[in-house]
Amino acid sequence: MEVIIQKDPAECVRLAARIFVRQLQIQPNAVLGLATGRTMIPLYAELVRNHREGRLKLKRATVFNLDEYVGIPSTDAGSFRRFLDDHFVNRVDINPARVHLPSARGAETRNVGLAYEKAIEKAGGIDLQVLGIGQDGHIGFNEPTSSLASRTRIKTLTRQTRRDNAEPFGSWEKVPAHAITMGIGTILESRRIILLAFGKSKAAAIAKMVEGPVTAMVPASALQFHPDVKVIVDEAAGSRLRNKRYYKETLAGKPEWQKL
Ligand code: GLP
Repeated sequence: MEVIIQKDPAECVRLAARIFVRQLQIQPNAVLGLATGRTMIPLYAELVRNHREGRLKLKRATVFNLDEYVGIPSTDAGSFRRFLDDHFVNRVDINPARVHLPSARGAETRNVGLAYEKAIEKAGGIDLQVLGIGQDGHIGFNEPTSSLASRTRIKTLTRQTRRDNAEPFGSWEKVPAHAITMGIGTILESRRIILLAFGKSKAAAIAKMVEGPVTAMVPASALQFHPDVKVIVDEAAGSRLRNKRYYKETLAGKPEWQKL
């Protein structure tokens, strides 16, 4: 994993946005894996700014979001569809027909999630996946003990995760108890991954993910198996990393062309 510690969230999102812009310039029809959550709000704002200033064109891009709640309409203020539309899709030139979120249709069978997996495959796989991380080390909604080989399926959310995501719902009890999420196996098939984390509350999860053993108790630790992951964190989120100095020296010694 390439660990990039930046001074603050603004620097992190500037770097992540440059990676995005570069990817779309080289590959205008890129397949993007997107995430939701507070961490993503400044990233989408920066991407929208890049779009308005003419550097980012998404007309030919395709989007697959990581996850969605089960049991609420896409119009609900807490749905990830609403989040993605409000912060990103409606502000750039993406073709809405190419924006996909997993759906729990078929939940009564074992096939739930299969259609999403097939749609990703048909699009040619995900070229660039953006991730946040939960305080318990989850990615997407793959809570601790998720199989590291899991595919898109329904998961039960922990109380902590529901509390962390309560804001648009008013109270944690109103946060749906279930969500459908890409699996860890699905995420690991993306060609490139950028994971963003800000603030002290993420410091323990980041340290375990990067420097701890690979374990289903820290789902993000499975990313240690992926050959192209950039972990972009601010000082606070990186504060519990033991090898901080090494990561900083590595970054300082990198030639410009290796940075994006
Ligand atoms: C939710 C999402 C994750 C996200 C996490 C952290 O659980 N499903 O994709 O990474 O929250 O969210 P935040 O960025 O708000 O801390």
